[in-house]
Amino acid sequence: MRKIAMYGKGGIGKSTTCQNLVAGLTEMGKKVMVVGCDPKGDSTRLLLGGLNQHTVLDTLREEGEDVDLEDIRKTGFGGTLCTESGGPEPGVGCVGRGIITSINLLEQLGAFGEDENLDYVFYDVLGDVVCGGFAMPMREGKAKEIYIVVSGEMMAMYAANNICKGILKFAETGGIRLAGLICNSRQVDNEVEMIEAFADKLGSHMIHFVPRDNMVQKAEINRKTVIEENFRNKKGPDFVSRLRGFVNIKGPNPVGYSVNGDESSQKGEGSSQGEAANSSYKNLAGDDPAHLIRRAILLRSILQRDCPGLIDPETKNASISSSVVRGFLRVHKYVHGARSLEAIVKMSNLVNVRHFNAASLPPSDLLHLHVTVDFLKDVNKGQLELPVIEVIAKACHEAWRKQKENDEWKQAPKRNDDKKEHPWLLPFDDPEFPESVRENNRITARLVQAKLHEVDCQIKMPGYVKKGESSLKSFSPEDKEKLMDIEHDIWLRNHLLDGYDYAKETNESLRLHRDILPFNKLPEADQELDRALVDSLIPALSKKGYKVVKGKGYEKQPKSQT
Ligand SMILES: Nc1ncnc2c1ncn2[C@@H]1O[C@H](COP(=O)(O)OP(=O)(O)O)[C@@H](O)[C@H]1O
Ligand SMILES: [Mg+2]
Repeated sequence: MRKIAMYGKGGIGKSTTCQNLVAGLTEMGKKVMVVGCDPKGDSTRLLLGGLNQHTVLDTLREEGEDVDLEDIRKTGFGGTLCTESGGPEPGVGCVGRGIITSINLLEQLGAFGEDENLDYVFYDVLGDVVCGGFAMPMREGKAKEIYIVVSGEMMAMYAANNICKGILKFAETGGIRLAGLICNSRQVDNEVEMIEAFADKLGSHMIHFVPRDNMVQKAEINRKTVIEENFRNKKGPDFVSRLRGFVNIKGPNPVGYSVNGDESSQKGEGSSQGEAANSSYKNLAGDDPAHLIRRAILLRSILQRDCPGLIDPETKNASISSSVVRGFLRVHKYVHGARSLEAIVKMSNLVNVRHFNAASLPPSDLLHLHVTVDFLKDVNKGQLELPVIEVIAKACHEAWRKQKENDEWKQAPKRNDDKKEHPWLLPFDDPEFPESVRENNRITARLVQAKLHEVDCQIKMPGYVKKGESSLKSFSPEDKEKLMDIEHDIWLRNHLLDGYDYAKETNESLRLHRDILPFNKLPEADQELDRALVDSLIPALSKKGYKVVKGKGYEKQPKSQT
């Protein structure tokens, strides 16, 4: 769960920006909670379609101590959970207390508990003054990432500067950081340059520039976020129907490939499923790479409609093996276009099945009424079965561990980079080794096939290696460089998506990491880690009889598959 606080001067546009952002996140399937920390009580107005009549302080005043979560938490747009702290009447009592009271109460009632499955919590905090109450979301790690909404106007920047002073005070004890500035434009001259320079002075950056737009006020009059007003109600369906048209008109085959006539044989390129057909497919596919996206969209929407049980309600990920996806996306041709794709899903054995894998697919004779025979070949090629995944996952971890131990790291319950201590310095099979980390290594392992493809190599299962085909003992230096680069890119992308930022010293709780850099700028020791990972691959595979060979062409299938 990411815990985020939005600070900024009153009227700068915190609540508007925050709610639009939240509406966007829920459209992406995220579960979000918003805690309004402004006595105005209007932090969730656009999500709720009007003001929340019961702030936490109101409820406590009216109903005493005995309150339920439902009394103080309302469900808004897209299932967002909305709470308003509220505050005393203007000029009476300390405003900050309302915030302290409500955050504590929400905690007591379990609003942030594991079973709520929240992806994000947003605190929308008035930041003209940073007294104890307003600093509350920053304290004790309640919020980890602070974003300041600012504009080019002097007072907005002045307030932002004060907020930063507040952040500094809590950064050490609370483990928080300034994650960036959001410029909500007031159309001041040189606004972008000014805010960028200001961010620079703060050692931060402007993460987004929101233009001033009438659309915001128009949506506000209808008590809606811009997302709801413009996407869901109007442009949304229009966009979706256009998308559908795009999918329907072009279909899942590369354009130029007529569904009923076999393009390659029309061109007289010989056998319909030999190398010639493949090369003509590749030409077509190259001219129309979007067919992969059309296939992915079709597959996803058919699964959603016909097999909702395969879709994880929380992550929205479909439980389908990557080798099956590979077959669906890469197959040479769907004989009857979209209908064929649909038919394959329909014929697959997915009743009471939690995972769509190769075993669920229909028998090959039925399958080949709808797709060319390379479908199963692609599926099998993508299918590194479990044992091999386990081998590679283990090799990845052991390479990492050896690397760390050579560098004199020791196992300890808590990570401490200064003392070179790490909790994961355990053998892969050790019962104490966390399953979640094991699973991460398996994810890395599953990607190996795709990575090898990038350097024109493939893993062959025992029995698939052709006579005279030589297997690699090690990668060439260029391939090795490329693989290490890919390895790091994957790591980097995952960390950036998780909100990591660069810092000289890694600090996991602040999401700061010294390796948020291009591969060639990494500290030597960290490059070594990727090197060790790549080096461990071939030996680990060959131990189990798997070979790595050069070339990624389509080899002939074994008899049993055709
Ligand atoms: N990008 C924008 N374009 C146009 N109007 C905006 C924009 N952002 C905010 N506003 C308007 O500014 C006013 C104050 O915004 P609000 O989000 O309530 O500020 P805050 O929460 O910081 O006090 C609102 O009436 C809103 O419609
Ligand atoms: Mg507000």
